[in-house]
Amino acid sequence: MILRFITSLFFCGCLFSAAHGQIAKEINPGEPWPDNNGNHIQAHGGGIIKLGKTYYWYGEGRAKGLDTNYRYVGCYSSKDLMNWQFRGYVLKQGDPENLGPRWVMERPKVFYNKKTKKFVMYFHLDDKPYKLARVGIAVADKPDGPFNYVKSFRPLGMESRDIGQFIDDDGTPYLIFESRPSKGFYIAALSEDYMDVEKQVSFIQAPLEGGAIVHYQGLYYAIGSALTGWRPNANKFATATTLAGPWSEFTDIAPPETNTYSSQSTMLLKVEGKRSTTVIFMADQWKPSTQWDSRYLWMPVEIGEGKLWVPRPRPWSIDVKKGTWRFKL
Ligand code: DGJ
Repeated sequence: MILRFITSLFFCGCLFSAAHGQIAKEINPGEPWPDNNGNHIQAHGGGIIKLGKTYYWYGEGRAKGLDTNYRYVGCYSSKDLMNWQFRGYVLKQGDPENLGPRWVMERPKVFYNKKTKKFVMYFHLDDKPYKLARVGIAVADKPDGPFNYVKSFRPLGMESRDIGQFIDDDGTPYLIFESRPSKGFYIAALSEDYMDVEKQVSFIQAPLEGGAIVHYQGLYYAIGSALTGWRPNANKFATATTLAGPWSEFTDIAPPETNTYSSQSTMLLKVEGKRSTTVIFMADQWKPSTQWDSRYLWMPVEIGEGKLWVPRPRPWSIDVKKGTWRFKL
C-alpha cells in the first residue's frame, strides 16, 4: 500500500516536471533559454511590459519550421523574469503592404493603454532592402492577443528602422526610433490612444540603433548600438536630466573589444523591489544564418551618478519582489 502510494507520487512528480519543464533558478546569458515547454524562447529584439505582478515579453518569433510567408511575434509571461511561459504567437502576420517575399517585421514593442484598454504593438516594417522604413501597428484586447494589423506609417514623417520603447515613471509612453538620414534617434510621445506618434521630445544626434532608455535616480540613460547590421559592436550610453536633453557624449557600456560581449541592445528593464532597484541590460546575440537559435544576453548593470556598465556575463538570479540580484555561487 505504502509502496503504491510512493510509486504514484513519483509518477505524478515525473508528469509534473515533464509538463512544466525545470524550474529555472538563474539567468544564463548567451545560453539557450527554455520556456515552460522546453523550447528556446522566441522573443528576439524584444520588449517587456509589466501588468500587475506579471511580466510579458514580446519579440520576434523566428522558430525553425514556421511558415515563411508570415512573420511572427512571440509572447511569454513570467512572475520572476527567470521562468517564462509561452503564451503563443500573438501576431501571425502576412505581408501587409505588398512588400515582397523577403519583407521584414522586427523589434516588436507592446504598450498597454489604460484608457482604451487596448494593447498596441509597434514594430519595424520594411521591405528587403530596408527602404520602406516605417512602423506598423497591431492591436489586441488582451496581452496574449490575438493582435490585428491596423496600419503602417513613418513616425513624424521620418524614416524609421530599429524601434525601442520607453515608459516613464509617470506612465507616459515613448517610441524611440532610429532615423538614418538625420543620423540619430528620436524620442517621441505617442498620441492619447497610442495609435500615432505625435510629438518629438528629443533628437539624439548619434548614428545609433537598438535604442533603449531607463530613468534611474533622477537621470535618463540612453543606450544604443552602432549601425553594423547583424554584427555586434561596442554599444554606448549617454545621460540627460530631462528626456528632452541636452544629452551627454556617448561612452562605452562594456570593454569595447568585446563588442558588448557579442550582443546588441534591445531594452533596459527597471525592476523596482521593496529593497532595491535593478536595471537589466537586455540584448540579442544574433545568429543571422540560424536566427531561431539567436541568444539573449541579459545582465544587471552597474548604474548611478552618470555611470552605466555591463559586467562580464555569467549566470545570475533576480528577486523581483526585493529588486535585488546576485551572481550564481
Ligand atoms: C540591425 C538591427 O538592429 C536589427 O534589428 C536588424 O534590422 C539588422 N540590423 C538587420 O541587418
